[in-house]
Amino acid sequence: MIYANYAATSPALSPAVIETLREYLGGTHLNAARNFEGLEAGATALRARKAVAKLFNVADPLKAVFTSGATLSLNMAINGLLKEGDHVISTSVEHNAAARPLEALQKNDIIETDWLPCAADGSLDTETVRKAIRKNTRALVMSHASNVLGTVLPVAECFGIAREYGILTILDAAQTGGVLPFEADGGVTADVIAFTGHKGLGALAGTGGLVIGEKAAAQMRPWIRGGTGSVSQSLNMPQFLPDKFEPGTQNTIGILSLAVSVEEILSVGVENIREHERSLTARFLAGLREIKKITVHGILDPDRCTALVSIAVRGYDAGEVSRRLFENRGIVTRSGLHCSPLAHKTAGTYPHGTVRFSFGRGTAMEEIDTILEALSEL
Ligand SMILES: Cc1ncc(COP(=O)(O)O)c(C=O)c1O
Repeated sequence: MIYANYAATSPALSPAVIETLREYLGGTHLNAARNFEGLEAGATALRARKAVAKLFNVADPLKAVFTSGATLSLNMAINGLLKEGDHVISTSVEHNAAARPLEALQKNDIIETDWLPCAADGSLDTETVRKAIRKNTRALVMSHASNVLGTVLPVAECFGIAREYGILTILDAAQTGGVLPFEADGGVTADVIAFTGHKGLGALAGTGGLVIGEKAAAQMRPWIRGGTGSVSQSLNMPQFLPDKFEPGTQNTIGILSLAVSVEEILSVGVENIREHERSLTARFLAGLREIKKITVHGILDPDRCTALVSIAVRGYDAGEVSRRLFENRGIVTRSGLHCSPLAHKTAGTYPHGTVRFSFGRGTAMEEIDTILEALSEL
């Protein structure tokens, strides 16, 4: 099998993660008792917080809050920060994880959203942000990179403009955690970074979280409330991080997988992962140019996209291409709308969708050649 669907989920846990989880599960009894005391769970969470804070270039590990993934994180940030009468700016390539909660607030007449039009290749003119700002603009919600086109958005510049006007910045980093170095080129900082564990971070599904800055943490209402094991005499949520946003028993085994996996990523170096993925993408894009009947959607520049390429094959339905690639050569891709109708409308590929190839740390250069060969045959 050749796995080319990293943008959906990572194909396997690393041997170090598996070994750690095996040990953890082997000692279930002891761990359950320790979890009850909150000791083992707390230590595991702190270990993971330290790794995540380092990855996202944030000094204080307690600013990392764990959730079940980027979807919950974005819902918590959007519903916790926005209030009646707010205006929000977002983009025309957002994933439904951000677009649906924004749309629901708009439908209920709570907020108004302007979707900045990205070009068909997913690129965004930063000045459109400035033009869209109104007196009541409260937040700019943006994907770091499109999960349909791979295009990396000019987040640092757009968030810089938002900051000039005191506008909150919310980043969907589902496609870029562990894939793009957050400290590069002066760094990407946001009031809220929503991340997922099961893609570039290589952790178990059902993990992820938020990295929250002080300003957003103070303004954000908890969207889920419950026991935290702290300030238990009060019927209100604690006001400090991470407890304010982490009620209920946490997913300790998931958080442990995140800790080990992110530590590994840090020791390999995100810049090295980026370079590997950049060369895979460069080779794939160059090879695609030689194949007739293929249209590549996206920016076509490996320096400006993640290791993700969406294509259409003239005369073929996207699902049919995916099916044939799998049946002929065991190549796993994802076809359709990829939970982002907005991005497909932007690219002009709605409603048919595209065939999406996405690569990762474990992808070998020879696999790119095999995929190109399979496409030529097809
Ligand atoms: C851009 C983007 N945002 C959000 C999500 C949702 O992430 P999660 O699976 O962690 O909820 C995804 C994953 O499908 C994504 O690609």
